[in-house]
Amino acid sequence: MDGFARYREGIERLTGLADVDEVLQGLARLLKKMFNSRWTVAYLLDREQRQFAPGRSCGLPARYIPLFKEIPLAPGKRPQLMKVLRKRQPFHIPDAGQWELLSPQIRTVLRGFNLLCIPMVVRNHVIGAVFTARKSGHPPFSPAEIHVIKDMVSHAALVSSHIRLFDDSLEMAVEMARRIDVIITLDEINKAISSSLSPARIIETAMEQIERIIQCEFSAILVEERGQLVVNAIHVNGISVPAALAPGTAVTGNCLACSAFRKGESRYLPRLGEAKRLHSFDRALAQAGIQSMLAIPLVSKKITKGVLMLGDTRTGQFVREDAFAIEKVTAQMAVALDNARLYGEMRALFFSTVASLANAIDAKSPWTKGHSERVMHVAAHIAQEMGLSETVVELVRLGGLLHDIGKIGIMEALLEKPATLSEEEFPPLRLHPEKGVAILAPIEQLREVLPGILHHHERYDGLGYPGGLRGEDIPLTARIITVADSFDAMVSDRPYKKGFSREEALAELRRCVGAQFDPEVVAAFSRYAGRITGSGVTL
Ligand SMILES: [Fe+2]
Repeated sequence: MDGFARYREGIERLTGLADVDEVLQGLARLLKKMFNSRWTVAYLLDREQRQFAPGRSCGLPARYIPLFKEIPLAPGKRPQLMKVLRKRQPFHIPDAGQWELLSPQIRTVLRGFNLLCIPMVVRNHVIGAVFTARKSGHPPFSPAEIHVIKDMVSHAALVSSHIRLFDDSLEMAVEMARRIDVIITLDEINKAISSSLSPARIIETAMEQIERIIQCEFSAILVEERGQLVVNAIHVNGISVPAALAPGTAVTGNCLACSAFRKGESRYLPRLGEAKRLHSFDRALAQAGIQSMLAIPLVSKKITKGVLMLGDTRTGQFVREDAFAIEKVTAQMAVALDNARLYGEMRALFFSTVASLANAIDAKSPWTKGHSERVMHVAAHIAQEMGLSETVVELVRLGGLLHDIGKIGIMEALLEKPATLSEEEFPPLRLHPEKGVAILAPIEQLREVLPGILHHHERYDGLGYPGGLRGEDIPLTARIITVADSFDAMVSDRPYKKGFSREEALAELRRCVGAQFDPEVVAAFSRYAGRITGSGVTL
């Protein structure tokens, strides 16, 4: 094979390679085969370190490899050599042992060698340098040889540059995919926690989603209560929770969480096991096997409301990017929890206002005291037992509380009458569902509660009032309130009769399914009653 054929074949082989080290090795072998180079060392620019390192060598005796591998070619180090490289032209030193730019140690190694240095240039940028050495027994590198070697190095530089570009693109694509995943997850968290007004649900959702973004075996929410941090919720995966971390435990002192809380800044411990002095809370985590720990404050309206803690049994588990994403989640979480707290306070105020209104009605008769609140509780339990949404449960709860509000317009003499009502006394009393709706209709927020109030005296067989609706034509909320209302009426003592026992009342409800009551509602109530029997909870 002639020289040109060898050159062409070598170049083609370099083109097909997918690894920079293999390209440089291939180049060195080609130089040896074609130009009798004894050894070749190549340096590529490390863009992150801003220096040429480490050197890849081929043909160097093993004892010299570390010497050339570690040669620093950083800017500022060996400025003369860097100056030569920046000219982007090959330079040839016929007896490298005399070259004063090199250290005495390397000069000793190079004694008796012709050295050729060719900068690796791609698009006018120096991306590296190739040093190739030939024994001085051979003639020095001729201009024709240098020209061919320069072409070969240029080709190797181009192939290396493409490989790096491809690798970088792959890495970027992977990183991009990870970031997109984080953004999508953040969006999902945002939607999930913004749509909930239950603090427990917000915390649970956020913790589930955080574990999607970042792998951790332990997560906990600590919230501020009367000036101190209290463990609110804990999620663990594969580790057992020490007693010191049980929900409700107050945490004080100099633990990581307290420090993040006081400073309002994230705190990170990458190696818990190596820390010399640990607060008892952190020590309990370390004893549970936690090694990496991250504490991120929950800040809403510039006030720190609590701390999110993440832990893992691996050391150095959390990286800066994770902390950034988690901080975004905790910020959302803090605002959502704040909103939930405000909503909870407003809801409590609303309920207590409405309850005092309902109590005023119940108080009109000594026999019905507390009736509305009891109906509210029983109706809500039935709705929950039926698996209805929290929205419907809330409608049933309010409907139960307000179902008899229309009695405000009924003569007290009728309500207080210590005997069953006569036929002619019934019609005014029968108007109370409609009167109730008329009273509450101006309140926009109660609009969806009204059907439950209007129809709570309908019967399943269609013989009730005011609409004479039958079966599932009666709104579900009304069917539930009817059962709760009737149950409470049955078990309450009246001046003219002693109330039923709970068992008797339940039996009566079951006897009247299909006629007065919805069978499914009574079945749910029976299930609930059966479950709490003996549990200490009263109906
Ligand atoms: Fe009623």
